[in-house]
Amino acid sequence: MHGLCYNAKTSAEVAKLVDAPDSKSGSREGVRVRPPLRVPNPSIFFSFTFYPALETTIRRGRESDMPALRDILNHYILKSVVTFEMVELSLENRKTWFTQFSENGRYQLFVAEEGGEVVGYAASLRFHQRPAYAPSVMSSIYLHPNHTGKGIGEKIYTELIENMKTAKDVHRIYGLVVLPNPGSERLHEKLGFQVAGELNEGGYKFGKYHDVRMYEHRLGR
Ligand SMILES: CC(C)(COP(=O)(O)OP(=O)(O)OC[C@H]1O[C@@H](n2cnc3c(N)ncnc32)[C@H](O)[C@@H]1OP(=O)(O)O)[C@@H](O)C(=O)NCCC(=O)NCCS
Repeated sequence: MHGLCYNAKTSAEVAKLVDAPDSKSGSREGVRVRPPLRVPNPSIFFSFTFYPALETTIRRGRESDMPALRDILNHYILKSVVTFEMVELSLENRKTWFTQFSENGRYQLFVAEEGGEVVGYAASLRFHQRPAYAPSVMSSIYLHPNHTGKGIGEKIYTELIENMKTAKDVHRIYGLVVLPNPGSERLHEKLGFQVAGELNEGGYKFGKYHDVRMYEHRLGR
């Protein structure tokens, strides 16, 4: 599969290129100077470059992924309200966070990798500390801002949901979405979550209250 990228040149850039003397048409004495080309509409000139589209791999998270995940999360912590975390996370914090995950348990971690770079994660986490909530997990999904809107979210969240269906003792997944977040809202609706309710002005960040929608996935049970 190949991606297509083009760089449009401005009329002025194109005019400069077609008028520039080159090694064959220079203005040295005795050498015929090639007249400038007449370009009817330079704005239609594009140069095309083909880039191979990088494959996205979904795999289990590893401790060595923690620096990349810390950086992705810290971006959203500092620049947006999509997460209600307020303070930058340290690598130590992420390493401790990583210790909760296993391959068959309630809490699992998947990462998306593109061209050898970790570009995001999806995880199931403890939903609430009261013990009767234990069969309910909370989901978390964050992609690097340069890698949103191209299907990676759907791919990695699907992997998480499918693994929750076969995990022992998981009954519900809850996703908490700070509104508005059209990408996350659509992703939850598309992948079988239903709206469980809304917290009116449930959080306060960057000097404002924010509504939160709770999505629930019943995992077919
Ligand atoms: C939310 C997020 C995980 C979604 O993943 P993504 O890879 O960007 O989404 P996908 O490309 O897989 O798209 C999934 C669906 O959402 C739609 N979508 C994605 N971004 C959208 C946007 N900004 N506005 C509207 N719809 C959007 C897609 O069109 C697709 O729906 P469709 O198949 O009906 O067209 C990702 O954008 C992200 O990490 N955002 C920043 C962090 C964040 O908000 N995390 C969630 C906190 S609750």
